[in-house]
Amino acid sequence: MISVKGLEKRYTIGDTAFTILNKIDMQADKGEFIAVMGPSGSGKSTFLNLLGGLDTPEAGEITVNGKNIHSLNETQRTLFRREHVGFIFQNYQLLPNLTVEENVSFPMYSGKKDKQEIKKQVSDLLRSVSLEGKEKNYPSQLSGGQQQRVAIARALSMNPNLILADEPTGNLDRRTGTEVLRLLSSLHQKNQLTIIMVTHDVYAASYADRIILLKDGVIESDIRQTEGANQDVMANLLAKLNS
Ligand SMILES: Nc1ncnc2c1ncn2[C@@H]1O[C@H](COP(=O)(O)OP(=O)(O)O)[C@@H](O)[C@H]1O
Ligand SMILES: [Mg+2]
Repeated sequence: MISVKGLEKRYTIGDTAFTILNKIDMQADKGEFIAVMGPSGSGKSTFLNLLGGLDTPEAGEITVNGKNIHSLNETQRTLFRREHVGFIFQNYQLLPNLTVEENVSFPMYSGKKDKQEIKKQVSDLLRSVSLEGKEKNYPSQLSGGQQQRVAIARALSMNPNLILADEPTGNLDRRTGTEVLRLLSSLHQKNQLTIIMVTHDVYAASYADRIILLKDGVIESDIRQTEGANQDVMANLLAKLNS
């Protein structure tokens, strides 16, 4: 489903080039729930944005659903994103002047669906994130956890098979964060959704079934969590993060 080969990302500031991602290779199968961890500034967001075609690399190849996304032109890439990828951000990125149902439905109007069909889909989506009854609310009238659930519904609105989430629980307290993580986890199980979630929080990462650790521009470890091994894996990761 996702194949990354020799991915390189650099930023040049003044005369100095900083290598953020240094020849990264990675594969992900359909239906995996992967957490990408690493210290602040290690390139997690950069990596996620490259995977979603929001940014372009200096070298390397990213194939998603058989498409080499950086061989696409700008228009093709926009279409690719709309068809295949749902994004979730730390600060929700809802449009403040649109209601909950408008925030969820606006990506759908770019397609050829009729209004009744969209209305029905929005109502199904809002039910799936437990927000029925909030259709007419504005984002400012919702809690952080509720806003993130609207963002999740919006991410799902075009029926993507890949969800890219950048610190989705970063602004939430533990209880609300847990609700969001459980929701992502159940969506992943129910719909065979592939999820790649950036987080610096070991607790959030424990919901994923695979953890990739980025450090100094490379994948320092790539661990599949198996039941029973969880605690050891976590202890190991914590030790690495703190080293
Ligand atoms: N547009 C940019 N121009 C220059 N440097 C950038 C830019 N975006 C990110 N960086 C640098 O790249 C590094 C990785 O950033 P980022 O991917 O946001 O890290 P993370 O999400 O792991 O905290 C940081 O050192 C950051 O300062
Ligand atoms: Mg980041």
